[in-house]
Amino acid sequence: MKLIIANWKLNPTTLNEAIALVSGLAHLMKVEEFERIVILPPFIFLEELVKRFKHFKWGAQNVFWEKIGAYTGEVSLPMLKGVGAEWVLVGHSERRLIFGETDEDINKKMNTALEAGFNVIVAVGELQKDDHSDEVIKSFKKSITGADKSKLEKLIVAYEPVWAISTTPNAKPDNPARSNQIIGELKHTAFKMFGEDSKKIKFLYGGSVNAENASKFLSEPYIDGALVGGASLKSDEFYEIIKKS
Ligand code: 13P
Repeated sequence: MKLIIANWKLNPTTLNEAIALVSGLAHLMKVEEFERIVILPPFIFLEELVKRFKHFKWGAQNVFWEKIGAYTGEVSLPMLKGVGAEWVLVGHSERRLIFGETDEDINKKMNTALEAGFNVIVAVGELQKDDHSDEVIKSFKKSITGADKSKLEKLIVAYEPVWAISTTPNAKPDNPARSNQIIGELKHTAFKMFGEDSKKIKFLYGGSVNAENASKFLSEPYIDGALVGGASLKSDEFYEIIKKS
């Protein structure tokens, strides 16, 4: 059974559309499937969605490490906890590239969120397609350094090559065997950093996952699940991915 996470990004525009999307999905799902499905809507819809749809797992797409103070436009971990979110994504390539977040920023977010008891998804991925994983490994190490060993079952790493994300011009999904190999290298790196405890970390693939290709990624041995963008915005298609996982 694999972990499937929906990253809605800046979609949809209204709460009513968000509710319709989740109800459509909830109607299709079997009871036992809910526990491994996480949805990351925009902040503003979280409170209402958590209240209405308790069977799903809910999280935010970003967070700030400070708890309170003069940080215009930011949202804190206690605020997320207060509305019932238990998951948080940090380090998505759109945060890194459009909003200038660095590995150091992401590392602070990861450590504070893990300490606050959240399940933390850390995204890493290279910009251009090439067969060297050095760039990803370096960013991965910096992003997860110092993670509390006793909390690694709450750490999830999403390998998302930027060139494979559906909204990147000329995007193509990665070859599942290649992602599997890179994720294998990330698992090996995590083992060198954290030893046996590293085996508790889950590793997902993200980048143009859809109903057609999901089973190919999800049948690879090192891939523990998927982080899905565009295809999570249609209940039918997203459910097809869940069925194949
Ligand atoms: P797509 O599934 O639309 O390629 O998006 C992937 C992603 O960025 C999820 O975080």
